[in-house]
Amino acid sequence: MADRIGQRFGDYRLTRLLGQGGFGDVYMGEHVYNHTSAAVKVLKTQLTPDKLKDFINEVRTIRLRHPNIVPILDFGIGEEDLPFLVMEYAPNGTLLYRHPRGTRLPPATIITYVEQLASALQYAHDQRLIHRDVKPENMLFGPNNELWLSDFGLAAVAHSTHSMRTQDAIGTWTYMAPEQIQKKPRPASDQYALAVVVYEWLCGTPPFTGDLMQLMYQHIYVPAPSLREHNSTISSAVEQVVLRALEKEPQKRFGTIQGFAQALVNALAPVPQKTKEQWLKEGDDHRIAGRYKEAIAAYDCAIQLDSNHALAYYNRGTTYRDLKEYQKALADYTRAIDLNPNSALAYGARGRTYYYLKDYQRAVKDFDRSLELDSSQTWFTSQKDDAYRQLKGQK
Ligand SMILES: Nc1ncnc2c1ncn2[C@@H]1O[C@H](COP(=O)(O)OP(=O)(O)OP(=O)(O)O)[C@@H](O)[C@H]1O
Ligand SMILES: [Mg+2]
Repeated sequence: MADRIGQRFGDYRLTRLLGQGGFGDVYMGEHVYNHTSAAVKVLKTQLTPDKLKDFINEVRTIRLRHPNIVPILDFGIGEEDLPFLVMEYAPNGTLLYRHPRGTRLPPATIITYVEQLASALQYAHDQRLIHRDVKPENMLFGPNNELWLSDFGLAAVAHSTHSMRTQDAIGTWTYMAPEQIQKKPRPASDQYALAVVVYEWLCGTPPFTGDLMQLMYQHIYVPAPSLREHNSTISSAVEQVVLRALEKEPQKRFGTIQGFAQALVNALAPVPQKTKEQWLKEGDDHRIAGRYKEAIAAYDCAIQLDSNHALAYYNRGTTYRDLKEYQKALADYTRAIDLNPNSALAYGARGRTYYYLKDYQRAVKDFDRSLELDSSQTWFTSQKDDAYRQLKGQK
């Protein structure tokens, strides 16, 4: 590698090497006039006139302004006709440096990273730009520890067939979507790459490993292995979301990268579960306010949590009765009685339902039982008398 320390690229003099990548070396640069620092990426290969035009066009368009995209300060053609790019210096290193390969990250960390990255990528996609090289090496930490995505669209111009075949680029192949391998990248290819990164954060290993040929083959033909096999603490909801973003066919993935991120965040941090008591209370509030459907849904949840919840059956029965769905009301009251055979209220309520159904015989029987259990319920006495009169009248 040529030692470029001291060389000048644009208005920047290179002071030290920061790192090397698949298609360029990154140096710390100092502005020759105002002495500010920046990172200068010098591409390895001289570009053919065609590629050069692509580079200039591409860099012009990748001067994206977003809080999670590394700001580009300048670009041009420097010493030995080498193209270069001046970026804001990221003082807190790369994500890969902070979390070396094999590190599993807690859900809360994954959520903050994915939200930032998806926001940057969605912003680019909305402008019809594809990153093409989403991977932990291209995620930097900015001055406030915010994530900066770097090398936007650079792969399109700088990844010559030559550099793509080098071992250096294996990092990139680990994350590459099948259609991008087949030279048809699209926004959904970034979603796939981000899903590989998330897979790695959750499992400690990417879905596919191996040499270049093995990686290409697996991306194109082999379904991504279950995440839960690597880490049994991962929920099936999270697994489903990641595997969908890793679908071979881009159309089967999420419609947008933001959609993927949202689904992942929801699956990683599910809405806190309510208790059966809370569901019951919610059902009661809905019923009193006349929102019967919502009330029934809330009671359903209470019953789902506890299939022996007598009061939830009783209150759901009452809601059905308010809706004049008497058969359903009867079923619920009967279940409430089975669970709590000493409930005068449940017998009384079922008696009243029979009354509405003009089944006065059963109504009288239930009112009787209710009064046996609790003679103080004088209200049931008049109900019973009324049912009795109706029964007589029927005969
Ligand atoms: N803006 C920056 N600020 C500080 N350090 C940077 C910056 N950009 C890159 N680096 C450093 O330079 C290293 C090399 O970056 P480079 O983009 O060339 O390689 P890479 O991301 O590993 O692979 P690829 O060539 O596929 O992008 C990074 O790992 C990082 O340590
Ligand atoms: Mg890079």
